[in-house]
Amino acid sequence: MTTTPQYVTESGSDQLADKARNHLWMHFTRHSTYYEGHHVPIITKGEGAYIWDDQGNKYFDGLSGLFVVQAGHGRKELAQAAAKQAEELAFFPIWSYAHPSAILLAERLAQLAPGDLNRVFFTSGGGEAVESAWKLAKQYFKLTGKPTKTKVISRAVAYHGTPQGALSITGIPEAKIPFEPLVPGGIKVPNTNFYRAPEEFRGDEKAFGLWAANRIAEAIEFEGADSVAAVFVEPVQNSGGCFPPPPGYLERVREICDEYDVLMVADETITAFGRIGDYFAMKRFGVTPDIITCAKGMTSGYSPLGAMIASDRLYEPFSKGDTTFYHGYTFGGHPVSAAVALENLKIFEEEGINEHVRKNSPKFRAALEKLLDIPIVGDVRGAGYFFGIELVKNKETKETFNDEESEKLLRGFLSKALFEAGLYCRADDRGDPVIQLAPPLTIGPEEFAEIEAILRDVLTRASKLI
Ligand SMILES: Cc1ncc(COP(=O)(O)O)c(C=O)c1O
Repeated sequence: MTTTPQYVTESGSDQLADKARNHLWMHFTRHSTYYEGHHVPIITKGEGAYIWDDQGNKYFDGLSGLFVVQAGHGRKELAQAAAKQAEELAFFPIWSYAHPSAILLAERLAQLAPGDLNRVFFTSGGGEAVESAWKLAKQYFKLTGKPTKTKVISRAVAYHGTPQGALSITGIPEAKIPFEPLVPGGIKVPNTNFYRAPEEFRGDEKAFGLWAANRIAEAIEFEGADSVAAVFVEPVQNSGGCFPPPPGYLERVREICDEYDVLMVADETITAFGRIGDYFAMKRFGVTPDIITCAKGMTSGYSPLGAMIASDRLYEPFSKGDTTFYHGYTFGGHPVSAAVALENLKIFEEEGINEHVRKNSPKFRAALEKLLDIPIVGDVRGAGYFFGIELVKNKETKETFNDEESEKLLRGFLSKALFEAGLYCRADDRGDPVIQLAPPLTIGPEEFAEIEAILRDVLTRASKLI
């Protein structure tokens, strides 16, 4: 049975779409689409790994909203934790004051983070955490006698958020050009897309990883070590379609950072909180960065929250005299969000979510790899519950689609066809065309088969279009 949400009258869902068209400025959205007869998709309900739209249609949530809803939709415990905290203390800032839920969450995150990453600076989301990390790196070096260390190195096609600093770190030209000039000092190096590795490294992931990491050392030498403050890497890069770190890559990046006194920042906005099968992916990969930025899955999306977690070494100069980190956000460490995060982490423990992801990830990969028999499926890659499927024009040569074909395939067909077939996921062309999957972490083999069946049908049809 389909229940009609209170705010949608039987004849009212078209009205709601009209109101969306007239007033709701959607993010990263080509609005003209919705003036050409397309209904704005309006999602009204979620339960487990499924979502429903205002027409009563059910979809599989193959992206956990936006890499967020780790514990699944409709979790009463999380809603109740929010309500309880809002009744007790709905809001208080952490500007020179504290409140219990932020304190307890900071302690819990410090326990879960690798090494001596014990200092938790809360934000409202991932971009703010990235922005905070760059500002911290700059001020840390000013306080420790190296004031010229200000630049940041990051990787091609990586997404690190939209504030103007974070956008400088981001490596997607189309997302940056309209807003230039941005904060100066964002230097780019190659990412770890092994599928597109230079010819000489085909078949040797380790050698490719070493080569890619050494490009960071080269960039530091080129810019001058006394001008570089930090290197930002996602443990598994999202944008471009899930690039895991080749064996030895993160270790070598750590070594380079130590050699040149440059901070290693792991942007775990997506990879933390179970996505790769641990609270922090860097723990899973066995490398300790100087800073972790995280957000999204910390609350499973039941309330917004982000954090920058810094090492004791970085905090030390801020702990004495009149030194202050002049930086903060009204809603950073919001009591309701922090209470929800604590409850979410309790669910992780009680339900063994990290263990579940580690155990089932190979089965998820195997289900997706079955799709490699479809002519346009070139590569399946990723880790944990986080996979990308790269689409190619020619599997033998790995020839990719040109801009026009990509537009026709992704925007013209795939996004809509996947959704109509009942799968919400991302068809992305920031880099080569990929389909990205990051479902709730509670699912298992039955749902993997469901995802595979929908993808098989739609991708087979897409193959015939090209
Ligand atoms: C790696 C990474 N960093 C930063 C961000 C920005 O996070 P937010 O949208 O919460 O500002 C994202 C968002 O997807 C991300 O994937």
